[in-house]
Amino acid sequence: MEYLLTLQKNLFAYTNMLDKINSLKEQIEALTAANAEAIEALRIKYLSKKGEISALFNDFRNVPNEQKREIGQKLNELKTLATDKINALREAFASNDTADAAIDLTRTAAPAEVGTRHPLSLVRQEIISIFSRLGFTVAEGPEVEDDWHVFGALNFADDHPARDMQDTFFIQRSPDVLLRTHTSSVQSRVMEHAQPPIRIVCPGRVYRNEAISYRAHCFFHQVEGLYIDKNVSFTDLKQALLYFAREMFGPETQIRLRPSYFPFTEPSAEMDISCDLCGGKGCNFCKHTGWVEILGCGMVDPNVLEACGIDSKVYSGYAFGMGVERIANLKYRVKDLRMFSENDVRFLDEFKPAH
Ligand code: DAH
Repeated sequence: MEYLLTLQKNLFAYTNMLDKINSLKEQIEALTAANAEAIEALRIKYLSKKGEISALFNDFRNVPNEQKREIGQKLNELKTLATDKINALREAFASNDTADAAIDLTRTAAPAEVGTRHPLSLVRQEIISIFSRLGFTVAEGPEVEDDWHVFGALNFADDHPARDMQDTFFIQRSPDVLLRTHTSSVQSRVMEHAQPPIRIVCPGRVYRNEAISYRAHCFFHQVEGLYIDKNVSFTDLKQALLYFAREMFGPETQIRLRPSYFPFTEPSAEMDISCDLCGGKGCNFCKHTGWVEILGCGMVDPNVLEACGIDSKVYSGYAFGMGVERIANLKYRVKDLRMFSENDVRFLDEFKPAH
C-alpha cells in the first residue's frame, strides 16, 4: 500500500515537472522584447536565482531517481534555451539600434556655429567709426518720409525728376508720403531742430524705383555726413574726406574731386579714389581710368540752411553722401549687388572674423 502511494506521488512529481518544463519551453521560445530593460526583466523572470527555471531545479529533488536523468537533461536544455534566447534578444536589439550604440558619449560636443555680422553692417560700422574719430556722432531718421524733408528743404526744384513716380516709391500722393530716396533727408530733420555746431553721420536704408540687376537694387544703404559751424570751408571737406579714404582703403589712397551738381550743395563735387586693384595704372575694375567714384559732396547750399532755420550769413557747412554697398564692393569685390540682400549663408560666412 505504502509502495503504491509512493509510486503515485513519484509519478505526479514526474508529470508535473514535465508539464512545467514544456510550458516554460513554449513561453521562452515565443519571447520578444522592445528594449534593453525588457530583456533584463525576462532574464530575471527566468534565469535569476529566484527565477522560474531555478525554482524547477529546486523541485528536482522530488523527482524519483529513475526519472532524474531524463528530467535533469530536460531542465538543462531548458536553461540553455532560455540563456540562448536572452542572448539572441540582446544581440538583435544591439544591431537594430546601431545608431544609439554608435553614439560616443565621451566625444566633445559639436562646435556651436557662431553667426556673422552682415558685410553691410561691417562697412557701415567702419564708416561710422572713422568719422567718430573726427568728432561726428550718429543721427537717424525715418524711412517713410514726407516731400519736404526728402526734397523740398533740400532745394529740389518742383519739376525735379526724383519727384516723379518713375524714380521714387510713393505711399500716398498730396500730401506726399514716400520712401526716402537718400539719407540727406536726415540732414533736414536734424537742422530744423538743432543749431550749429552740427557734426553728424546718418546711416540708413534708402529706396529707389529701379529695376533690380547685378548693379542696381530698389533699396540700398547710404551714410550721409553733415558738418555746420562758423567758417567751415571746402578745405575742411577735402581734408575730412582724404582722412576717410585713407582710413578705409589704406594710407596710399589718393582722392580727386570732380565738379558736379546736387540741388542741396553749392559748389558740388564727386569724389574718386585711386583704384587700389591696379594702383592707379588702369584696369577693368576702374574702366582703365585709374579712379573709382565713391561719393558725392559739397558745401551746403545757403538755401538749405535758410529752409531749415539756420542763418546762412553766420554759418556754413559741408555735406557728403556715400553708398554703403559701393564701399563694400570696393573693399570686398562683390560683383553682384543682389548678394547683399539674398542672405545666402555661404556668402555671409565669408565675412566671419578670423579667430
Ligand atoms: N544724396 C545724394 C545721393 O543720394 C548723395 C549726396 C551728394 C549727399 C552730395 C550729400 C552731398 O550730402 O553733399 O545721390
